[in-house]
Amino acid sequence: MAAYRTLDDLRDVAGKRVLVRADLNVPMKNGVVTDALRIERQAPTIRELAERGARVIVLSHFDRPGGKVVPSMSLRPLAVPLAEAIGRPVAFAKDCIGEGPIAAIGSMQDGDVILLENTRFHTGEEKNEIAFTKALAGLGDLYVNDAFSAAHRAHASTEGLACLLPSAAGRAMASELFHLPKVLESPERPLMAVVGGAKISSKIDVLTHLAAIVDVLVIGGAMANTFLAAQGYQVGKSLVELDQRETARKIISSKVVLPRDLVVAQELAPNARSRITAPDGVDQSEMILDVGPRTISEFARQLKTVKTVVWNGPFGAFETPPFDRGTVAAAQAVAEQTREGKLLSVAGGGDTVAALAHAGVMNDFSYVSTAGGAFLEWLEGRTLPGVAALRPRSIEGPGR
Ligand code: 3PG
Ligand code: MG
Repeated sequence: MAAYRTLDDLRDVAGKRVLVRADLNVPMKNGVVTDALRIERQAPTIRELAERGARVIVLSHFDRPGGKVVPSMSLRPLAVPLAEAIGRPVAFAKDCIGEGPIAAIGSMQDGDVILLENTRFHTGEEKNEIAFTKALAGLGDLYVNDAFSAAHRAHASTEGLACLLPSAAGRAMASELFHLPKVLESPERPLMAVVGGAKISSKIDVLTHLAAIVDVLVIGGAMANTFLAAQGYQVGKSLVELDQRETARKIISSKVVLPRDLVVAQELAPNARSRITAPDGVDQSEMILDVGPRTISEFARQLKTVKTVVWNGPFGAFETPPFDRGTVAAAQAVAEQTREGKLLSVAGGGDTVAALAHAGVMNDFSYVSTAGGAFLEWLEGRTLPGVAALRPRSIEGPGR
């Protein structure tokens, strides 16, 4: 038996009220979506259910309003982008429980889609309170979770509902659950992990877990500065966590690959004057902002020796050129090996996806996850509560 059910297992959805947990927590600026990747990935589930005659009720959180109504965190501005993505009108309800949604859902026709207001406007969401979960469950007959990127949260709409209604994974969720295990659970070896980003402290469990299971662990980004400091190098004005040097020392082993050369500058500013140096040549007045060309050619060489790569975190301050060069070159090396069919490559994490988009290789990796925090928890080897709750169990829900 499959580990979880999918839309294929939900046969008679016509006329049923299907609660779809999406993750519409997307980057926005002045009410406009600046990165629609999550919406595009989750659109097929909503569209398919609507086409099959379901009455689709979309649930999501947005940002972290902390259990109260915060108008700037309303999901209302997402109704139009969602409608455009699915090619159907999307109605909006000003709350996610209570009279408003009950009336609006009561007058839905088969194939209609409605988006309910931010679930995190209620304290019951994050507390996974049974009364709140029941109020949500009462709105639907079936529950579909398509929000892998929120599956690390054991909230009412991500976990609780699966315990109250017959449930299934949506297409985007199923896709994540299909691709990710090919990397960490049953990878073709040798397996390389690339971990970058600013801080060791936020990725200690990721680094520890990966160090135990991968064959090569490449460290980039500002967190590499802490590893260099742990080896006794001066890192000048660089971003560094001196209190994490001991952690770094414990992780360092023959598997761990650190930068061979660095790009340093006096300031982090667009097109700031920079130079390339060995790790022992950083001046007190300088900061490390990227890896250098030797590091990248060494990375490209090692990449040819592995069969699988999992990537989280940029190599340098890629938002500020020219300090994007290391990240772009490394991403292009992965893309090239993948295109040639020599490598299975999976990447994830908010910054990582932005970096890959910047490098123009989003479609050249084998798979790019839309998850941020959930991707990190998966890299830690943890079971995600939203995924665990989708495992089939014998429950009788309304409509069955
Ligand atoms: C995310 O953007 O990572 C998910 O939507 C989860 O959001 P959260 O970190 O606020 O739980
Ligand atoms: Mg977040």
